[in-house]
Amino acid sequence: MYRRPANLELFIRIARNLFQAEALPEAGRQLAVKVFQRLDQPSDDGKRNSERYPACDLLASALAPLLNDTSDLGDVARAINVLEPAIGWQRRTSGLNGSKDYVEKHVNGMICGPGGMESRYDVQLGFSLLAPHTRYPDHHHPPEEAYVLLTAGEFRQRNGDWFDPGIGGGLHNTRNSVHAMRSGTTPLLALWCLLV
Ligand SMILES: [Fe+2]
Repeated sequence: MYRRPANLELFIRIARNLFQAEALPEAGRQLAVKVFQRLDQPSDDGKRNSERYPACDLLASALAPLLNDTSDLGDVARAINVLEPAIGWQRRTSGLNGSKDYVEKHVNGMICGPGGMESRYDVQLGFSLLAPHTRYPDHHHPPEEAYVLLTAGEFRQRNGDWFDPGIGGGLHNTRNSVHAMRSGTTPLLALWCLLV
């Protein structure tokens, strides 16, 4: 019988708050309500990804500016720091228009979802981490998705203009809609959640 670790429970509680911020689009908040309702039920098949990638080393510097913050953003940064050894890492290797070396310069940290710390298939909760000057490829997927930014970063939806939702802000991607993100001079760190 799987029992959710207290540090993961804490992360989920903080993330749940962040995905209800006023700075998110209403559709993103609504999606997150459904995701976190499912997460009320712990579930793990133990199939955590064990491989680490070069971009994992950027996590500390991406979190550093938030570690003394007294808001939910600081709480989530400290919680991610604690979870780091248990995160399941993966990389995207497909999609269009990614910067030349994006595979080496990004990583996705799965916390709840396939291969994650809590490996399950009904939701995904994790984050993307991009090295400076990295453009993640245009991609799409059937589940809708909400993001919350923990750093500066720019996003693009369909053929729209690039925009930065701001730290603590976010966006919502509808089903199968093409989207991308890119970092500037600092690493990009953004939480996401998907209802599968
Ligand atoms: Fe996506």
